Amino acid sequence: MLKKYQKEIIKNKIAIIGLGYVGLPLAVEFGKKFDTVGFDINFDRIKQLNKGIDSTKEFSKNYIKSSKYLKITNQIDKLSDRTIFIITVPTPIYKNKKPDFRNLIDATKRIAKIFKKKSIIIYESTVYPGLTEEICIPIIEKKTKLIANKDFFYGYSPERINPGDKKHQLKNIKKIVSGSNGFAEKIIKRLYETIIQAGVYVAPSVKIAEAAKVIENIQRDINVAFANELFKIFEKLNLNTFEILKAANTKWNFLNFQPGLVGGHCIGVDPYYLLHKCKKINLKPKIITVGRKINDEMGLHYSNLINKKIKSQFKNKKIKILILGYTFKENCSDIRNTKVHDIYEYFNKKKHDVHIYDPWINFDLKGVKLVKKLNKNYYDCVIITVKHDFFIKLGKKRILSYAKRNNIFYDIKKIF
Ligand SMILES: NC(=O)c1ccc[n+]([C@@H]2O[C@H](COP(=O)([O-])OP(=O)(O)OC[C@H]3O[C@@H](n4cnc5c(N)ncnc54)[C@H](O)[C@@H]3O)[C@@H](O)[C@H]2O)c1
Repeated sequence: MLKKYQKEIIKNKIAIIGLGYVGLPLAVEFGKKFDTVGFDINFDRIKQLNKGIDSTKEFSKNYIKSSKYLKITNQIDKLSDRTIFIITVPTPIYKNKKPDFRNLIDATKRIAKIFKKKSIIIYESTVYPGLTEEICIPIIEKKTKLIANKDFFYGYSPERINPGDKKHQLKNIKKIVSGSNGFAEKIIKRLYETIIQAGVYVAPSVKIAEAAKVIENIQRDINVAFANELFKIFEKLNLNTFEILKAANTKWNFLNFQPGLVGGHCIGVDPYYLLHKCKKINLKPKIITVGRKINDEMGLHYSNLINKKIKSQFKNKKIKILILGYTFKENCSDIRNTKVHDIYEYFNKKKHDVHIYDPWINFDLKGVKLVKKLNKNYYDCVIITVKHDFFIKLGKKRILSYAKRNNIFYDIKKIF
């Protein structure tokens, strides 16, 4: 059976659904080898990608154009001859922290319209263990009247890419794969092995692969929360947390996590997916919940610390504040759930004149004062929030030249 199916599937008519940080490199890599169509509902994104422009600045024109067989479209009927569908749409949370499955459901429904017998659907979006089989696959079965593991197959292969990180890229990060049965597992393994040089790890089930992904990010969240808790303790003791961590890190098994803001669409979001599942089985995990709370409050914590300094130096005067960095992490343009916004809001509400400068943002930002040019001797307070290489290269002296003589300088990332 494998051989017969493989003949058809290995023709590998691939579709990648959702061409963002995860989907684009996947589409490019598969498109270097196989007939691949990238699909996205965002027409502007499609228009730009067809010109070789990636607005996230992650991938160059040369890289995108290097994909010989890749076609990019927003028309779902262009996917009707595909045999392999890979879903890479966002899985965010609502304001009340509940998981928002709408993109996942919408993408699945669109695919169901053109999905045929003998096809494979693989999910890459981060979910909780069970979501693929509880929500997505039933949609395909209901809409197509096909039966999973008889008429079609499915799998789950989480993504580990790290935007802004030029070292860890799709091809050189080991990838977890899983399939709905042994047959699907083999096909999916072989498929990904064609592009992942670091190799693939076959998880024994879809649920295990889903769980593995979500805990990778939860582990980071909890470790950063611990570093943040230490920061709060040592701040009160007038001790430098960064120096303490540096010293402790000389032990072979000490984990090197630094305090800071935890934003973005992964670390600060994925724990809520597992917490959602826990609620359904009447579990109330303690560490995961507290870790989230600690990290979510860090914007307020830093703001309070800086405000104390402002009060003592400037009393009730309204001052000019420069925030250096707005993206949720260094060296990328991603601003989703950026916690820098908490600091901006805090000082804006206190009626200070707050400006943000971020060399990675080349788009309009609603609701914040983004400056493109910095004036010398202008600011009373400068706060570094993101460790962009740009700021490191700029240097402390140059950065301080934008501040007045009696300034407050607060470097959250301890770059300098
Ligand atoms: N960005 C990362 O570093 C990263 C790493 C690992 C895993 N993930 C996970 O991968 C998934 C995708 O994340 P991302 O960062 O690539 O998201 P993204 O927002 O960068 O891109 C998603 C793309 O999907 C498109 N889209 C949304 N709904 C769609 C639909 N119904 N049909 C077709 N296209 C649709 C959007 O227009 C967008 O272009 C998420 O589950 C995320 O948690 C992300």
